[in-house]
Amino acid sequence: MVSIRELLGIELPIIQAPMAGVQGSALAVAVSNAGGLGSLPGALLSLDGLRAELGFIAANTSKPFNVNFFCHTAPPLDPDREAAWRTLLRPYYDEFGIDVSDVPSGPGRVPFSHDVTDVLSEFTPPIVSFHFGLPSAELLQRVRRWGAKVLSSATTVDEARWLESRGVDAIIAQGLEAGGHRGTFLSNDLSTQIGTFSLVPQIANAVSVPVIAAGGIASAGGVAAALALGAVAAQIGTAYLLCQEATTSQVHRASLQSAAAHHTVLTNVFTGRPARGIVNRMIREIGPMCDITPEFPLAAAAVQPLRAKAEARGSGDFSPLWSGQNASGCRAIPAAELTKGLAPT
Ligand SMILES: Cc1cc2nc3c(=O)[nH]c(=O)nc-3n(C[C@H](O)[C@H](O)[C@H](O)COP(=O)(O)O)c2cc1C
Repeated sequence: MVSIRELLGIELPIIQAPMAGVQGSALAVAVSNAGGLGSLPGALLSLDGLRAELGFIAANTSKPFNVNFFCHTAPPLDPDREAAWRTLLRPYYDEFGIDVSDVPSGPGRVPFSHDVTDVLSEFTPPIVSFHFGLPSAELLQRVRRWGAKVLSSATTVDEARWLESRGVDAIIAQGLEAGGHRGTFLSNDLSTQIGTFSLVPQIANAVSVPVIAAGGIASAGGVAAALALGAVAAQIGTAYLLCQEATTSQVHRASLQSAAAHHTVLTNVFTGRPARGIVNRMIREIGPMCDITPEFPLAAAAVQPLRAKAEARGSGDFSPLWSGQNASGCRAIPAAELTKGLAPT
């Protein structure tokens, strides 16, 4: 099996998962400088924001790093569905004194594009990872032109085979335990989603490219177990959420450190796509899966003002409190320390 040093040029078999909304370049730099692979999530960044973050990384580490993007197909706005969604949320707008006509609609998260690739080509990041499949062959070819290694998430054996046939350099096997959005892209059937210990060995048997394990891994023992199952590295998200370099909100941090973190579910109520988060009021009252929710990522715009008002009152009732099933590795320490502690000895 290829080593992680040969594959990605890093010392430790630890990839800090890209986590849009809770971190930027500071976390990525800290992890890369500690010998793991730091990741910058691009899904919520403007082109100028992306350029600034990449500039910070270039100035602060000479080690390999990863930049990550969503590659969903942007859906057209569906006025009827949007209206039904806002009607469902109406009692909450009333509760917070929000005028529904002031609530903007809009995409929120934009898929990978030629414009994004133009910015990337100024910095030539050594590793680019994708969630929700892959971008067009043309875009992929542009990314490969500067020699970037390409990674993408698979949540089933079929998705792993699909990614291998399109030439990815490694596959992130994302088990059901994982926090944040499911990377699912071939099926909407959530019963196809299986746990990390089941998924990693099956994908490792089915493909010949290296496999990276993700989901529920939160300790050096967990990383060692993933390697024993055939993975070359572990991609870890939730455990980094309390690190000093993360931008995780106070309500999110408090929730991760409370008993509430023991109960996570897959929910589509925050963005329109299934993602794992800690159960809160919004999920309990209209989720976890809701038929009315507009398609990803359109659902998010109507939730945003509720989230802002609630957070201003110190409440996470309307916030996406993304977390995997295993928050036991979360530590409010520097990310370098966490990264070194996650490496099996
Ligand atoms: C807060 C949060 C945000 C996430 N955002 C992204 C993202 O922007 N891109 C992505 O590819 N994966 C994202 N993920 C999923 C991770 O890549 C990874 O699959 C997951 O964190 C692994 O499981 P764990 O959280 O149990 O360690 C996110 C996960 C979390 C917890």
